[in-house]
This record gives sequence, structure tokens and C-alpha cells, in this order.
Amino acid sequence: MESPVTVVILAAGLGTRMKSRRAKVLHRAGGKALIEHVLETALKLAPPERVFVVVGHQAENVREAAAACRVRFIEQAEQKGTGHALLCGRDELAGIGGHLLVLYGDCPLLRPETLTALVEKQASGNAACALLTAMMDDPTGYGRVIRDAQGRVEAIVEQKAATPAQLAIREANMGIYCFEAELFWKYAGSIEPNNPAKEYYLTDMAEILARAGHSVEAVMLGDAREALGINTRLELAEVDRILRTRTRRDLMLAGVTIENPDTVTIDAGVSIGQDSVIGPFAQILGKTVIGENCRVGACSIIVDSEIAEGVEIGPFTMVSRSVVERDAVVGPFARLRMENRVGEGAHVGNFVELKKTALGAGAKAHHLAYLGDASIGAKANIGAGTITCNYDGVHKHPTSIGKGAFIGSNSTLVAPLEIGDGAYTAAGSVITQTVPADALAFGRARQANREGWARKRREQGKK
Ligand code: UD1
Ligand code: CA
Repeated sequence: MESPVTVVILAAGLGTRMKSRRAKVLHRAGGKALIEHVLETALKLAPPERVFVVVGHQAENVREAAAACRVRFIEQAEQKGTGHALLCGRDELAGIGGHLLVLYGDCPLLRPETLTALVEKQASGNAACALLTAMMDDPTGYGRVIRDAQGRVEAIVEQKAATPAQLAIREANMGIYCFEAELFWKYAGSIEPNNPAKEYYLTDMAEILARAGHSVEAVMLGDAREALGINTRLELAEVDRILRTRTRRDLMLAGVTIENPDTVTIDAGVSIGQDSVIGPFAQILGKTVIGENCRVGACSIIVDSEIAEGVEIGPFTMVSRSVVERDAVVGPFARLRMENRVGEGAHVGNFVELKKTALGAGAKAHHLAYLGDASIGAKANIGAGTITCNYDGVHKHPTSIGKGAFIGSNSTLVAPLEIGDGAYTAAGSVITQTVPADALAFGRARQANREGWARKRREQGKK
């Protein structure tokens, strides 16, 4: 490809059939908004300053979703058709030569290789336009591709305007085009809204260019599903399924074992290292990064987290917005709620909840604990049933536990609180004051035994 590519993504429609208050391109599939998938593909073909998004419905929200990519925007205040969408960008676009590639924001499955082939077809054939088509068993709803006796593309006819003979044509227009930019703008003004919908159809360009003596080429997809556009939530679910299948396939081919893969949900933005094993029904979501040689147990959910190598996440564990360092063991049945850091080789066992807590290297909280707003030193041992009372009903307070400290079972740690390195708290204690390093703190009533009390009571009962 010698001349540069400019991409225009049409994303102004509301998508009435979604029955949604949200613009269609903001719905999510495969772990990303539809528009994000299309932008990612577009940016593989053109730099951000040559990628334009046509926005209309909920323009502000769509802009926001695309803002991080630093692409440009075209406003289409009123949606008067796919041709009109491009005409709205005439001022920005008409001066840019090269290839003009038109994509849809609701069509997230197209692969960059397919689009490159489309651009190359237009360039190598010296064509005014190359369009993407597919043979469909049921092309209902799609524009049909009309070819002349020599097989050259003559026109695209929309379903509503097609004659019965044209309706029988199985070659459908996928709505994705690459135009020679200068020719496009030379003729774009000829599109007229002479159809019952009074819309400016981009599809008219095929006939306009062919009639002017320019060639219109087509690239036929092997599988029409690659151009599957989303109109309803059923198609959204289908696209989601396809995207997730692709993600799992890529990961497996890169050396990740996924057990019972159809049950596993992995978002497109996730990365997983070699020889890691993902158990059935696991969900790995958002921007999660998992290192090599990890194990994610069945039914665990990991969201926006960083898991270093050699970590074991037991079954039924939830990890959200947290960091787990190498060789740590978390779960089964643990919950890392948010902003936690579990140090190297540390253990978090069943029914332990961590919130904004840092657990030092080799520290252990094996069973039944709530540790919130806490910093816990290396190799400390947190007994079963330990609770940080971090909230006084108004404010949250921190707890600091030193290196190698031993927190007895069922300790109630009333924050703000400091427990020094190597200190002990007796089981069942309510700890409200600083515990110096290497001290033992008792915070419970002293035990008293009454000899023979139980026997006497039983004997009284018999009388
Ligand atoms: C279009 C094609 C049809 C093709 C089909 C493939 C036309 C006239 N028809 O029909 O030949 O088979 O795609 O899916 O082009 N949009 C705007 N502004 C508008 C209108 C639409 O931005 O004024 C956007 C929509 O948000 C959507 C895309 O363009 O992302 C396609 O529009 P849509 O109305 O769905 O076109 P189709 O009727 O599917
Ligand atoms: Ca459509």
C-alpha cells in the first residue's frame, strides 16, 4: 500500500432494535464496547489523525469511549443515511487523498487482514471502489450486489428497492468499502435521497462510479459472519460468543491451558502467560494480566488485576483491582475486594476478605478473616476469625501489623491500631491499644473455673 489510508467509522445511529437507551456502539461484546473493537482494528490500518468517527446519537458518550485513542470526530446531528454520514465530514475529509476506508461501529468482528486485502484490491485494480461482499444463504435485509454479464459490479440495490429477480441474488453487500478518496469526493455530491426513506445511501456510490466509467471491485468473504453487524441483542450475544472464542483460541495457541474452554469467559484485554492453567467456568475480565505458570481455579472471577507468575488462585475466588505477587496462594473461597497487594509467597485462605490491604511476603491469613485498610508485615500469621474493625460508622481507620506478628484466632483489632514486629495477641482478644514489638497482648476476660459446679447442678435437678 503506497498511498495512506484514512478510516471513517460510522457510529451515529441509535440502533432502535437494540431496545436500549444507550447508543448501540457502546454496548459491550467480548469485554469491550463495540466501538472499541472497531477502533482497535482501524488503528492497525491508519494512524489516529487519519481515523474519523461519525457521531450522532449520544455523541458525547461515544466521543468519550473513543477519546483515549486520540482519533477525530465528525458530527452527524441528524441521521439521513450512510452516504449522508460521510458527506457530513466533507470539510475535514475531502482534502485527504489516498484510500478512504469506510467501517461500521457496530461491526466488530472484521479482521485487519481482511481490510488490508480490501484496500489492496482497490489499489492494485486501480479501482474507484472495492467493496466487501459475501454469499449468504439468507441475505434478507442486506443490499444485493448487481453484476453485469462480465461479472463487474454495476450497482448495489437495497432490500426495499429490489425487484424479485434482484432479491434472489445471494451476494450481499457487507457495507464496508475502500474508495479512491479523490474520486469519492468528486462524485459524492451525486448521491441523492431518491428512495422511500429519503436517505442518502452510500451504496449508491457503486452505481455512480460504475456509470462514470470507473471500475468497482469486490472482495468476497469466505464467511459472512466476519462482517456480522449488530442490530439486536441476539446478534450482540452471538458476536460476544465469537469474540470470546477467538480470545480463548489465541491464548491456547500461545501456550495457555484452558479446561472445558466453552465455559470460560476471558475479556479481549486480558493477557495470560505460558503454561498457566485456567479451570472451568473461570471469568478473567477487564485489564487483568496473569503471569506464567499460574493456576486459576474453577469458577473464580478475576477483574482488573495483576497476578504474577506461579500464583495459585483456588476455586471460587474473587479478585478485583488487586495485585498478587509471585508464588502466592489465594483461595479457594477468598475475596480480594479492591486495591490489595498480596506479597510473594503469601497465603490467603477460605472465607478471608481483603480490602485495601497489603499482605507482606510469606504472610498468612488462612481462614475466616476480614482485613480492611491494613498493612501486614512479612511472615505475619493472622489467626482464623481475625477482624479489623476499620470503620467507626463515620471514618475508616488503618491497622498496621508488624513483621512476623502472630494474631491469635478471633482477635478483634479496633483501628486505628498498631501491632509491632514479632508481637502476639492472645486468641479471642479485643485489641484497642498499640501492642509493642515482641509483646503479648491479652484483651479478654481472665478465665475462672468453679470446681464441681456442673455436677452439683445435675444433682440438684434430680431432687
Ligand atoms: C447498510 C447498507 C446495506 C448493507 C448493510 C450491511 C446502505 C444504504 N445500506 O444497510 O447495503 O447490506 O449496511 O450491514 O448503506 N449510520 C450512521 N448515520 C446514518 C445512518 C447509519 O452513522 O445516517 C451508521 C449506523 O450507526 C450503522 C451503520 O451506519 O453503524 C450502518 O447503518 P444501517 O442503518 O444499519 O445500515 P443497513 O440498513 O444495515
Ligand atoms: Ca445494520
